[in-house]
Amino acid sequence: MDEMHILTAHVKNPSQCEIETYEKNGGYQAIRKVLIVDKITPENLIEMVKLSGLRGRGGAGFVTGLKWGFIPKDPALAKYLVCNCDESEPGTFKDRFLIEHDPHQLIEGVILSSYAIGAHLAFIYCRGEFYEGIKKLKQAIIEARKKGYLGKNILDSSYSLNIIVHTGAGAYIAGEETSQLNSLEGFRATPRLRPPFPAIAGLYGKPTIINNVETLCNVVHIVNRGVEWFQSIGTPKNSGTKIFQVSGHVQRPGCYEFPLGVTLRNVLEAAGGCPPGRSFKACYPGGSSCALLTTKDLDISMDFETLAARKSALGTASVIVMDETTDMVKVALRLMEFYQNESCGKCTPCREGTRWMVQVLSRIEAGKGTYDDLKTIEEVCEQMAVTSFCPLAAGAAPPVVSAIHEFKKEFLDAIKRNTHADQHPEMKVSYPYL
Ligand SMILES: Cc1cc2nc3c(=O)[nH]c(=O)nc-3n(C[C@H](O)[C@H](O)[C@H](O)COP(=O)(O)O)c2cc1C
Ligand code: SF4
Repeated sequence: MDEMHILTAHVKNPSQCEIETYEKNGGYQAIRKVLIVDKITPENLIEMVKLSGLRGRGGAGFVTGLKWGFIPKDPALAKYLVCNCDESEPGTFKDRFLIEHDPHQLIEGVILSSYAIGAHLAFIYCRGEFYEGIKKLKQAIIEARKKGYLGKNILDSSYSLNIIVHTGAGAYIAGEETSQLNSLEGFRATPRLRPPFPAIAGLYGKPTIINNVETLCNVVHIVNRGVEWFQSIGTPKNSGTKIFQVSGHVQRPGCYEFPLGVTLRNVLEAAGGCPPGRSFKACYPGGSSCALLTTKDLDISMDFETLAARKSALGTASVIVMDETTDMVKVALRLMEFYQNESCGKCTPCREGTRWMVQVLSRIEAGKGTYDDLKTIEEVCEQMAVTSFCPLAAGAAPPVVSAIHEFKKEFLDAIKRNTHADQHPEMKVSYPYL
């Protein structure tokens, strides 16, 4: 299958960030179509997006039009759109790519989506480190406002919208939608209890839709080219393209846009495969919070259902590739250190569980582990996943548990370096927290 450049069609053009170039390439026509030419109502726009089958690109794959449909219709009620550009999961870098190379595409997507849900104020919540992208987004907003695409009475219609770019302070948990709302309100980024869901009570207690950057960019193309065109790309339940971000042991790491349902092999080939003389060992297909795929999965279809059935996940389609030289014990430890560091600390199973896992994996890696440790890891991971408050802890388990399942010998070999490996009661004494 070949790459298909829709969202990334103009990313190689350095002047695409300027509004004149964006307009020359068809930009802001979708807004004109909705507000002026076809006068599409918000209800019909929601219906179009629902019919297109667009699913959220932020990880969970929820049907976008369905989520928008939960917004109360009362016009007197303030509503907000929040664009999630926190992008802090290891291996994920498509949103940064989109805002740095085609910021107006996102601005247009935000305008269309805000119109659909009846919002007159939208926020783009950016990870603070995205200095370049934030600069470009702010410039794009100034340009769009000057041309009448933003502000009061857009293109002389009755619709008005302002967009605020908000800079986060650098925390993975701020990407979780309810934590992001707290952060936007000036509080610590910790998750909120759901229900109520943000579509009913979100930012400042008002109905709010939170969508990923890539999701919102897709709306522009659905409006321009139609629902049937969008449905014709990908698989029946996974329409459209996906930007695969390939990192790690490949020759050409980067963003590759393919129809959903492309095989893993195709994606790896596009990135040039592993370095010369080295062979593919495994990859995390959807960011760091999913189970490993191995050589036996090379022909798997990269879509939400197939990867879920394989007990992994498409997530953000961030393919972290590891070749034969990779030490899987070190990988498991390094990832668990990330989750320990990023746990917001609100609930005990995650705050303590990730810390315990780092201790257990550290001692295995240091040649001081016991055979019982592998069972402990599985048990604690399972408990963390089912007893924690938000999906961060559930996401910490599969990368580690799958590494143990797929590469058990490496863990056993590390444990065998401990000559007392069988004497686990004594080992436990020296690790009182277990
Ligand atoms: C720990 C954690 C981090 C997340 N980080 C992001 C993120 O950086 N960007 C994002 O769009 N969604 C992220 N999500 C998912 C959001 O909670 C939410 O589902 C998403 O923004 C919805 O947008 P979508 O429907 O367009 O996918 C994260 C979820 C969790 C649990
Ligand atoms: S699971 Fe972790 S990140 Fe989520 S609320 Fe609990 S401590 Fe915070």
